[in-house]
Amino acid sequence: MAPFRPGAEVEYYVEYYTDVLVNAVEFDRVSKSYCIYEAPGDRLRELAFFGRRSLHREFQALRELSFSVRRGEVFCIIGENGSGKSTSLQLIAGILQPTSGEVRVSGRVAALLELGAGFNPEFSGRENVYLNAAILGLTKREIDRRYPLIQEFAEIGNFIDQPVKTYSSGMAMRLAFAVAVNVDPEILLVDEALAVGDAYFRHRCMRKVQEMRARGLTIIFVSHSMADVKAIGDRVLWLRGGEPLAIGAVDAVVQKYLSAMTEPVHESNPDPKPVASAESIPNIDRRHGSGAAEILGIALLNEFGEDLHLMTPDSTITVRITFRAARALDEPGVGFMLRNHLGLDFAETGTPAEGQPLASLKAGEKITVDFRLEIPELYPGSFSFSPWVKDAFEICDFIDNAITVQMARSEGPVYGYVQWPCRIELNTLLHSQLHDSELHNAELHNGKEARVG
Ligand SMILES: Nc1ncnc2c1ncn2[C@@H]1O[C@H](COP(=O)(O)OP(=O)(O)OP(=O)(O)O)[C@@H](O)[C@H]1O
Ligand SMILES: [Mg+2]
Repeated sequence: MAPFRPGAEVEYYVEYYTDVLVNAVEFDRVSKSYCIYEAPGDRLRELAFFGRRSLHREFQALRELSFSVRRGEVFCIIGENGSGKSTSLQLIAGILQPTSGEVRVSGRVAALLELGAGFNPEFSGRENVYLNAAILGLTKREIDRRYPLIQEFAEIGNFIDQPVKTYSSGMAMRLAFAVAVNVDPEILLVDEALAVGDAYFRHRCMRKVQEMRARGLTIIFVSHSMADVKAIGDRVLWLRGGEPLAIGAVDAVVQKYLSAMTEPVHESNPDPKPVASAESIPNIDRRHGSGAAEILGIALLNEFGEDLHLMTPDSTITVRITFRAARALDEPGVGFMLRNHLGLDFAETGTPAEGQPLASLKAGEKITVDFRLEIPELYPGSFSFSPWVKDAFEICDFIDNAITVQMARSEGPVYGYVQWPCRIELNTLLHSQLHDSELHNAELHNGKEARVG
């Protein structure tokens, strides 16, 4: 008989219990396939064949994905469209089941999924609050106590008693968020939810997320905004095609992701179009900088990636700038100044200003960055673009007046520099209020006089 070795068993239990305590969510070789039917009626037709004929093909959204989320961390999931982020969250929320593998979740989950999923459109907001909270395991008394908080946080006024189908997506999201943060979840899932709603609401939500983070809640946050991920994340999982490309500390993974996104032609691009390069500089009026980087080209492109000859209102254009690092750049930034036909500085933007920092570059590395701009109705003069590259605050290269384009004439006249979209209404409310307060003041005044007299 083998001699008794107490150490081995103790070790086993310690390992087992710390795992259970430390991890809020575990994915163990999780795959998820969807059935894709070519025609809308194929699903029914297939049922009619009782499995003798298959009319679908399988699409694998997640492939043998393993990762774990520690209790109390803010875990972000990033990746391009269709990479499997929402699918992962829906598996954690229990809305979907994995095709194979295992998803383990320990703790009460509140989920903020795309477009306030989880509400019944026929029921009122109030009824949905009660339903939702009950599903999350709250008793009627607990919900009664929290209801005023939820109502206040949602700020949707009388709509709370209207059916949810009458809500805008922003209103549905407000209500979903109000429920999610007020039911004491242990795990909060947020899927791009904050993109909906106005800036004030977004601020309030982010503050709440920070509060929940400080209280030690586990938060799983899906976002396309690297600025948000950097602001709140502890660790990041980067998915591509349902597989992990990287997992780890925020800075390292975000940097890898950003540098992959700024590669001129993406390796996983399903339909690589001929990419107009930015390898020439049409004009140089003046050039200065430390020389730590060199601008190699600038191009203006239309929606179809062709050279742009005329800007039209409401179109989207791309300003493409290519540069090479002459030495290692720790904090590279690229951007441009836009001048109008009078040579006046009209607008300026760049990667630092847009909150899209670039990954550091090694000497000799070359990258291309695209800026997409929505063109408003501008005064129909010509515009000139002057690109720059910086390393932190050091100007490495600046080219004055590198490329110009003409703004097309719009239907109406443009006074000043830009036709600013605006709606005009007569303010009857303020007028009647003024009238009331004037009367009130007059009464006070009369009263005072009466007393004095
Ligand atoms: N119900 C479904 N039926 C079939 N395919 C689906 C279904 N839901 C998702 N998919 C596919 O699975 C893949 C992953 O989708 P998912 O929604 O998880 O991506 P995502 O990373 O959240 O993308 P996005 O950034 O656009 O929100 C996509 O290719 C998508 O087309
Ligand atoms: Mg998604």
